[in-house]
Amino acid sequence: MSSGVITASYIGASALFILALNGLSHQETARRGNFYGMLGMGLALFVTIFGLVTDNQFLLIIGMVLGGGIGWVLAKRVEMTHMPELVAILHSLVGLAAVFVGYANALDHGGAALTDIEKTIHAVETYIGILIGAVTVAGSVAAYLKLSAKIGGKPLQLPGRHFLNLGLLIASIWLGFVYVEGAAEGGGLAALVIMTLIALAFGVHMVVAIGGADMPVVVSMLNSYSGWAAAAMGFMLGNDLLIVVGALVGSSGAILSYIMCKAMNRKFINVILGGFGTKPKGDGSAAVVGDAGDVRSIQSEEAADLLKNAKEVMIIPGYGMAVAQAQHTVYEISKKLKSSGVNVRFGIHPVAGRMPGHMNVLLAEAKVPYDIVYEMDEVNEDFPNVDVSVVIGANDIVNPAAQEVPDSPIAGMPVLEPWNGKTTIVLKRGMSTGYAGVDNPLFYKENSRMLFGDAKDSVDAILKHLS
Ligand code: TAP
Repeated sequence: MSSGVITASYIGASALFILALNGLSHQETARRGNFYGMLGMGLALFVTIFGLVTDNQFLLIIGMVLGGGIGWVLAKRVEMTHMPELVAILHSLVGLAAVFVGYANALDHGGAALTDIEKTIHAVETYIGILIGAVTVAGSVAAYLKLSAKIGGKPLQLPGRHFLNLGLLIASIWLGFVYVEGAAEGGGLAALVIMTLIALAFGVHMVVAIGGADMPVVVSMLNSYSGWAAAAMGFMLGNDLLIVVGALVGSSGAILSYIMCKAMNRKFINVILGGFGTKPKGDGSAAVVGDAGDVRSIQSEEAADLLKNAKEVMIIPGYGMAVAQAQHTVYEISKKLKSSGVNVRFGIHPVAGRMPGHMNVLLAEAKVPYDIVYEMDEVNEDFPNVDVSVVIGANDIVNPAAQEVPDSPIAGMPVLEPWNGKTTIVLKRGMSTGYAGVDNPLFYKENSRMLFGDAKDSVDAILKHLS
């Protein structure tokens, strides 16, 4: 394959990746976006394996079939609720690849005689590539262990942890100088190994210090790191496409982290410094005292009557709807209500569920039309006109403590405000807290009704009474 064809194909693949990102930014075009991404990756792999690589193509193809096969099985098997940990562990592979490429690069320059300045550039990109890769791999593995509850979600707050991080940073910079100087003489490997160990320790420390409620930001931040690790690999391998794709992933991940921080009213730097979101500080939960006995419960038949007699209904899905797989029945209910003249809308919080867009994916799977699905900011002002809000397996995203309890761990996080409507029906199994581990005063409000039980059973029963 001529270099012209390779360059043209790489430009084509880059354009397809940009179209993919553009497509993924709207639900209606997300499927098309995914298709462009797959096409771009197919083209990039084909051109690289058959155009750029001259030896061992057979080995590469075996690797691809093996890796692709494992990826296929994992993607088929994974439950939607376990998606974040799959994403986290996949990010770790990008980091690992960057570390391997970095070491291969440090040990073998491909035989070319380099000038002094080329040697320095080569050493700097190798060092930075391994550094980003090692932070990504260790941080992603720690995030995977945390998200899959294999280690606790409580932030680990070592005494003097900020100084520890600062010390690790200074040591890494100093080792960088040692390595670059040593590499010019064909050595420096010891500095590289020590830095790798430091970067691995830093990656773990960074993630374990972050509180449970901030984990969504961590996943998108690691997504961004994996992009920068890929870009670093692009520099090490002299591959323009990897640089472009890495930069696209790195910057889109950074933008997503920013958007999520805004949605949770967190400052990015505070998330990174860690420690939020697992335990109420001081008396954060004092505004709520009580158990199931102190709330007004309701049965499915009464809930169905309330819905039948309403004009405006807002459905607020959360993590519990995903666990119960209740989305199909929920859509059936909304169709039934619509056919009897009730205006039904869905209100989606940006961090509902366990991954960005979790609720949108579930609703799309159930074929809920996009034009009745609204974002939090589009509906929050309308709640005074809503007759019945149905909160399905959601907790943190409808927690008034975010506004009413100043020292709550979720204070300041924007939330959906169903309590401003006439009646709120909350579907959940008991009085457990949500992901952030914070009590929810909504359940005790005068206009709230609790419908206890598995969300799927409850919506099935409501549908039966509506029919
Ligand atoms: P949560 O606050 O986690 O609350 C879910 C509620 O669903 C629980 O209180 C649980 O109560 C109930 N539930 C669980 N299984 C159920 C079932 N089968 N039937 C009925 N109810 C069930 O969920 P949310 O309101 O969607 O908020 C999301 C939280 O996750 C936020 O704190 C967010 O920061 C965090 N988070 C989000 C993401 C992203 S990117 N979306 C990623 C990681 C973490 P019972 O046990 O009493 O039933």
